[in-house]
Amino acid sequence: MKISKEIEQQKQYIEKVKELNKDKKLTYSILTMGCQQNENDSEKLCGMIEQMGYVKATNPEEVDLAVINTCCVRENAEDRLFGKLGELKHLKEKRGTIVAIGGCMMQEKHITRKIKESYPFVDMLFGTHTLHKFPEDLYRVIEEKNKLTDILDIEGKVYEGLPIKRDSSVKASVTIMNGCNNFCSYCIVPYVRGRERSRMPKDIMEEIKELAKQGYKEITLLGQNVNSYLRVERENNIQFEEYEGINSFATLLHAINKVDGIERIRFVSPHPKDFTDDVIEQIAKCDKVCKLIHLPLQSGSTEVLRVMNRKYTKQQYLNLVEKMKTRIPNLTLSTDIIVGFPGETEEDFEDTLDVVKKVHFEQVYMFIYSRRIGTPGDKMEKQIPDEIKHKRFNRLKELVESQIAENNQKYINTIQKVLVEGKSKNNENMLTGRTDSNKVVIFEGKDDLINEIINLKIVSEHMWYLRGKQV
Ligand code: 5AD
Ligand code: SF4
Repeated sequence: MKISKEIEQQKQYIEKVKELNKDKKLTYSILTMGCQQNENDSEKLCGMIEQMGYVKATNPEEVDLAVINTCCVRENAEDRLFGKLGELKHLKEKRGTIVAIGGCMMQEKHITRKIKESYPFVDMLFGTHTLHKFPEDLYRVIEEKNKLTDILDIEGKVYEGLPIKRDSSVKASVTIMNGCNNFCSYCIVPYVRGRERSRMPKDIMEEIKELAKQGYKEITLLGQNVNSYLRVERENNIQFEEYEGINSFATLLHAINKVDGIERIRFVSPHPKDFTDDVIEQIAKCDKVCKLIHLPLQSGSTEVLRVMNRKYTKQQYLNLVEKMKTRIPNLTLSTDIIVGFPGETEEDFEDTLDVVKKVHFEQVYMFIYSRRIGTPGDKMEKQIPDEIKHKRFNRLKELVESQIAENNQKYINTIQKVLVEGKSKNNENMLTGRTDSNKVVIFEGKDDLINEIINLKIVSEHMWYLRGKQV
């Protein structure tokens, strides 16, 4: 079926469910685990759910539709899901709540099997390739009062035109590609999100122009490997329509930079092996592209990187950083690091510490290696004992935190351009925003500053946020 027709059909199911729910004042809750891609998927789910007549629940005990959008990148997400399912059982018994679980973890057969065996009250399981069919699946669950599983093993198409309910009115994320072809040996993503496929330039640009019209100032481009945008299509001669000169990630940045109203462009995550010069040039040239670049390292050891299938060495990563630093004024970097990958020796780990010391990251997202069933890493012999993993993790954390504390000092007394996002969650009387380098700044100010980019003088630092003052 053609994509537009399929979406049209889902819109009809939205109307059907809305009709069933008429005058019932139903509520929903959604729990999102994992990455920004999942958050973006949840925004689409919320868009569909709200159109079907549900409003967001304010009381966790009074929920008619409970949705969990799962992640399976690391093990702790599984513990969290099963914990949450325990809680939902009681809600189901008390209120007849419809329980729907979707997302990456549902692409793993051992997980869906466990849910069916141990949590039979769950009404609906849906995967990463069937998200757009949520209205139809929900309709079936309500009408036919049956349990339903809708999971596809093959990668789906790229669906356009789903309703979306965004979390923020200041910044928005825009998916530019789905899936991943890299098969890093620790990572489950290629198995649950399928092969790489890019959204068409015109669809992306139309979404971004519409966001600008609605007043959004910041856009984050999402994909597992954003800097290979349209590469699969180019290499395999898959026809795609160029739009505003867009045929690569660099040209996409260039085009978005010209959209009136959009003031900031971010993207996650690029892969170091695909960081071509044209992308570096556009980051330097495009005034709206934030100069904080997330550049996942994973490990600083050339040998570990080889076994991880990352396709770069320690030195190549450091050379890339040097090149970027010389070509992009005011560049700051953030990264992802895994400790305790199979076979990681003390020396390998010290290589990781060495890269951290040399690069001076603005932010480091640190992970303890977690075995994922079905990945090559899981089958490797030299698994690292938990105790060593934790010790290394703590050593890395200590180094990172000392660097962040030192780095924060550099902000004191500087003037920073801050996009004001809203009221501070911890203090109603304060506003919160972010610098170009993605640092949180809290300050006193009037509500009409929300969604403005203003100058703030940084007056103090507190590890995870800065305090600012209007100038
Ligand atoms: N164990 C630990 N961390 C992982 N990541 C991906 N897979 C694993 C795993 N099996 C981390 C990587 C990636 C980030 C999103 O999650 O650092 O960049
Ligand atoms: Fe996973 Fe590697 Fe693909 Fe990132 S690039 S999603 S770490 S396989």
